[in-house]
Amino acid sequence: MDKKITVIGAGNVGATTAQRLAEKELCDVVLVDIAEGLPQGKALDLAEAAPIEKHDAHLIGSNSYDVSANSDVVIITAGIPRKPGMSRDDLLKTNKNIIKQVTAAVAEKSRNAILIIVSNPLDAMCHVAFETSGFPKQRVIGMAGVLDSARFRSFIAKELDVSVENTHAFVLGGHGDTMVPLPRYSTVAGIPITELIPKDRIDALVERTRNGGGEIVSLLKTGSAFYAPASAAAEMAEAIIKDKKKILPCAAYLEGEYGINGLFMGVPVKLGKKGIEQIIQIKLTKEEHAALGRSAAAVQKLVDDLKKLG
Ligand code: APR
Repeated sequence: MDKKITVIGAGNVGATTAQRLAEKELCDVVLVDIAEGLPQGKALDLAEAAPIEKHDAHLIGSNSYDVSANSDVVIITAGIPRKPGMSRDDLLKTNKNIIKQVTAAVAEKSRNAILIIVSNPLDAMCHVAFETSGFPKQRVIGMAGVLDSARFRSFIAKELDVSVENTHAFVLGGHGDTMVPLPRYSTVAGIPITELIPKDRIDALVERTRNGGGEIVSLLKTGSAFYAPASAAAEMAEAIIKDKKKILPCAAYLEGEYGINGLFMGVPVKLGKKGIEQIIQIKLTKEEHAALGRSAAAVQKLVDDLKKLG
């Protein structure tokens, strides 16, 4: 196909992302992983499903970055997933080293690629990828808000017994316990949910969204969520590859927007072929602004901890 996307990490999130991309027939897909045989086996298995799924995307798996050369988009999912009892922050050290090594290899082979970071702790890993790649801020994007808002949307749809397609949800801030779901900007068929759902129920849905990752971890016990994260990463990649100019909540490097400087935070952005083409600034109430400030402080702490690790 005309376009190429490389997915680094052929584990649960990476392989499922590759499947979604191929089945959307968006691009050829390269899977890279350090585990011998894993990316090759999963790529072959996915390629053998193609006649049934009716797509002509080529899938290649490799332990080398050579086949990833000149990718349009690179999605980084390598790392260790969160285990029960482990906070996202516990992942910091291990995944920092992995993301550094992976980003350096990716950046060398695909100087013009747009990077979508999925590995956790997300906001901190975006910083590592941004610094290691030296890419402009428009081309380093974190996947968090699309996933968090999809979770919120699924809960809203269930609460009101309406189609998920009627729902829109807004989630700002870091990808963690301090994320800021915004009920005022979350709608069903254009109607704010604040007019449809009582406050105590909205509070419960917001809380469930905040703990969405942890809820899945405690059920799966041996790993973390991957179907919805893969769908979210694939939606972002599609917006970029098709130059859709789609507004999606993503982690972006902020330089003054929302009063935040030098941090990756979840905000609404316009995604197109250049990556982040615009950061959309919406009006926040005093309380929402304060919640975003608390989220920024939590992300800042992660970044400070990263620096201490050297
Ligand atoms: N280079 C390439 N691949 C690597 C490296 C590395 N240096 N280190 C680890 N990997 C690979 C592993 O071999 C494994 O196949 O990353 C893959 C991770 O897959 P899983 O363990 O299945 O984890 P997954 O559930 O996919 O989560 C990956 O995404 O959502 C986040 O928190 C999650 O950070 C985690 C990441």
